[in-house]
Amino acid sequence: MASQSLPCLYKNPDHYLKAFHIFCSASGKFNVYQAWVDGERFSEAVVDKLQATLDGQEGLRVLGVGSGSGEIDCAILKRLLRQFPRIDNRVVDPSDELLGRYKALAESKAHQLHGVTCDWRQQTIEQYEKAGDLTKFHFISAIDSIYHAEDALDSWLTYLYSRLENGGVMLVIMRTDDSGFTRFLNGFQRFHANYHDVTSGDVRSCLDRLGITYTQYRQPRRMNITTCFDRASEEGNLLLDFLTFTVCFREAAPEGLQTWVMEHLASSDCLERKGDEILLNLDWDAVVVNKPLGMVG
Ligand SMILES: C[S@@+](CC[C@H](N)C(=O)[O-])C[C@H]1O[C@@H](n2cnc3c(N)ncnc32)[C@H](O)[C@@H]1O
Repeated sequence: MASQSLPCLYKNPDHYLKAFHIFCSASGKFNVYQAWVDGERFSEAVVDKLQATLDGQEGLRVLGVGSGSGEIDCAILKRLLRQFPRIDNRVVDPSDELLGRYKALAESKAHQLHGVTCDWRQQTIEQYEKAGDLTKFHFISAIDSIYHAEDALDSWLTYLYSRLENGGVMLVIMRTDDSGFTRFLNGFQRFHANYHDVTSGDVRSCLDRLGITYTQYRQPRRMNITTCFDRASEEGNLLLDFLTFTVCFREAAPEGLQTWVMEHLASSDCLERKGDEILLNLDWDAVVVNKPLGMVG
């Protein structure tokens, strides 16, 4: 198959948001992550570690990187409030639209977020770093946002680690390197000349290189993508746009490429079948870094 360049979804924010919204609801993403945050693992890996660090005098300083519309960050804040009654929550995300949705969500949940003060920064993490703010945080989360680091992963993680207080915790959530979605993209990403996929395996390798220790928690997830195989389905086409990172894949890709992509997607390498349902494996990893007490820098 000759190499061709397709219009990248990241370059069209409106279409990206539509496709991302469909992806989140089809994959039940918010419910799955919320259940993890409310469960024992999050308590052990994050809350207990933070409790061991804070002396009870100061409020908890939290940084959300690429928080999007805030559903997961709000679930995390609610969980943290049970142990830390005062939280300063700084949010860094370049999307005006998504920050607006996060603000509206936080307002609608104000009764559950009593004690949280939000500080909104409409910036990329690179712009935030350049602005030179020296605040350090007890808890930093980057949920499904490190994909945007592409080939700057080392500098993202080095910078975020430098913003972590000693004893603080950083949580990175990402798709695994052997999920069906990643295997699908591996075969497909040559069609996006400027897109470099990042997975939890890349994050782990990078942390190993930087000598930063971490714990990893692997979680299963499946998404029903049966509609992707129905050309007439609006939802299926948007989902396909998200999976291929392409604006209007069915219109942009030549027929031969479409056939190849659908066959590749349908292969057992990427998919599982359960009765009439076609399921894509979206397993994800929570990578948790706990910065040792007494570190310099
Ligand atoms: C896939 S969304 C994830 C949103 C949210 N964390 C969630 O899981 O629902 C990726 C987010 O990263 C943000 N983003 C993109 N480039 C970024 C950058 N360079 N620095 C920080 N955030 C970025 C996007 O605006 C978007 O909100």
